[in-house]
Amino acid sequence: MEQGTLAAVEYTVQDRVAWITVNRPKKLNALNRETVEAITAAATRAVEDPEVAVLVLTGAGEKAFVAGADIAEMAAMDAREGQAFGRFLVDSFDVLERSPKPVIAAVNGFALGGGCELAMACHIRIAADNARFGQPEVSLGLIPGAGGTQRLQRLVGRGKAMELILTGDMIPAAEAHRIGLVNQVVPAAELRTRVAAVAEGIGSKSPVALARAIEAVMTGGDLGLDDAMRIESSLFGLCFATGDMKEGTAAFLEKRKPEFPGT
Ligand code: HXC
Repeated sequence: MEQGTLAAVEYTVQDRVAWITVNRPKKLNALNRETVEAITAAATRAVEDPEVAVLVLTGAGEKAFVAGADIAEMAAMDAREGQAFGRFLVDSFDVLERSPKPVIAAVNGFALGGGCELAMACHIRIAADNARFGQPEVSLGLIPGAGGTQRLQRLVGRGKAMELILTGDMIPAAEAHRIGLVNQVVPAAELRTRVAAVAEGIGSKSPVALARAIEAVMTGGDLGLDDAMRIESSLFGLCFATGDMKEGTAAFLEKRKPEFPGT
């Protein structure tokens, strides 16, 4: 197991899974600049580490995944600084969404505002049954500024996204699951083991195929269907030039488990 601390983030690698834990529990893991920079640094480290197959993002403590951007830090900002801060969060969260290795959010409590937006930038969301989600920015005279107005409507549809953004209401994990905001809800005490099992399952697949699949879904998702299908065909075709595809198909035909070279 490899361990390290990057400022406000704890970094641990176990069974080829990099656990990135936002570590400001006294402030419910609220995102100040330093914390966001640490998340990006940890994600970059995990993407570059050949021993890591999957990234998991979670929050320290029992109560919160991330309760939002740091309100104390934002309170003093002017318009120019606010816009730059929003852009900084968008660019930072893009590193997760564009990661060639799958990123799972293990949502262990409040995922509010920037915390909900951070979870939505992950490829898969698994929530503890006591987690709560929301975009409460309008209560602060703000709007979601780290992708919330866009990613939420893509996940749950425009009507539900509007309702959550305009009411600022929090919803429990079960409702988040019902509307498609989270993939799975598990008992809080089992969150870590259940996420580890999903991560290890994904980690046993072809790394090259995982990267290409993420690219196809993410790049194609915002294009017209015809262009998106062309991207899918290109990426599908590129798989045929890989060692992973040769090994995966050979292993199937030889009735054995594949050992992917990752090339
Ligand atoms: C800074 C925060 C914080 C936040 C909690 N804290 N959320 N500090 N920014 N987003 C701090 C509290 O001030 C408090 O510090 C400590 O964490 C514990 O929180 P409490 O409020 O005492 O806990 P509790 O009563 O259990 O209430 C939990 C809560 C509440 C319902 C989650 O903390 C809350 O409403 N937080 C704000 C949620 C929010 O509005 N998020 C969106 C932010 S805007 P002290 O020092 O008093 O103990 C945003 C914009 C994103 O995210 C886009 C940016 C570009």
